[in-house]
Amino acid sequence: MPEPTPTPADLEARVRARPLPRHVAIIMDGNGRWAEARGLPRVAGHREGAEAVRAVTRAARRLGIEALTLYAFSLQNWDRPADEVEALMLLLVDFLESERAEMMENGIRLHAIGDLARLPPPVRARLDAVMGATAANRGMVLTLALSYGGREELVQAARAAAARGGEIDAAAIEAGLWTRGLPELDLLVRTSGELRISNFLLWQAAYAELLFTPVLWPDFRDAALLQALADFQGRERRFGLTRAQLEARSDRE
Ligand code: IPE
Ligand code: IPE
Ligand code: MG
Repeated sequence: MPEPTPTPADLEARVRARPLPRHVAIIMDGNGRWAEARGLPRVAGHREGAEAVRAVTRAARRLGIEALTLYAFSLQNWDRPADEVEALMLLLVDFLESERAEMMENGIRLHAIGDLARLPPPVRARLDAVMGATAANRGMVLTLALSYGGREELVQAARAAAARGGEIDAAAIEAGLWTRGLPELDLLVRTSGELRISNFLLWQAAYAELLFTPVLWPDFRDAALLQALADFQGRERRFGLTRAQLEARSDRE
């Protein structure tokens, strides 16, 4: 007999009882399709997507996730129609202004990764202001990937390593990544049913668990996050080892 679907409270209790991923990243995709399905302009999907960002950030903080990284805008997204890019930048400014107080209350530190120099100056100024205001918070780090590309991140990390001189090894590359200082990526989620990573966290995803869900980003709320975490908790991460090796290791602990 199939197991009955757990209630949200049951699911949350189950998720809380087991180790959580330290670092979760999400490719927030499907805003346009969400809007198109309702006969609305794409920007309506982005607006509802911003509500999902608020809800998921709040839920992740409540559960005790250490790091949440959200892919909000890629370097390739600059080539979208100018009015859509502008609408996304305005929504970002709204988000920064409306969430600042809540980030302070909940101990959330805001961080951003990407080629931030390409952001319009007023957006950049607000981003810097909120990052500065929240810099001492220790509850959770919320990283927005803005004007971000994984290949571009690796190119600049390699250049920085070469400029410093010395050995170019994994540690030297890592030291130049925009994500330096964040915990290892444990779980990478993509919404909207697309099975690709679209230039996100290419280096960091090396041993992340991948999860693809058909849910469109504007519909991704607490329940979908809990489901993703429960799925993660059911995985066996082997990092190249055999199951017997892993069992021997956990016996020793
Ligand atoms: C994700 O939704 C948001 C951004 C990429 C900025 P999309 O805008 O890509 O939505 P779809 O994929 O067209 O449905
Ligand atoms: C990836 O989504 C970027 C973000 C979610 C910000 P896209 O919609 O831009 O990716 P593709 O075009 O489907 O690969
Ligand atoms: Mg998309």
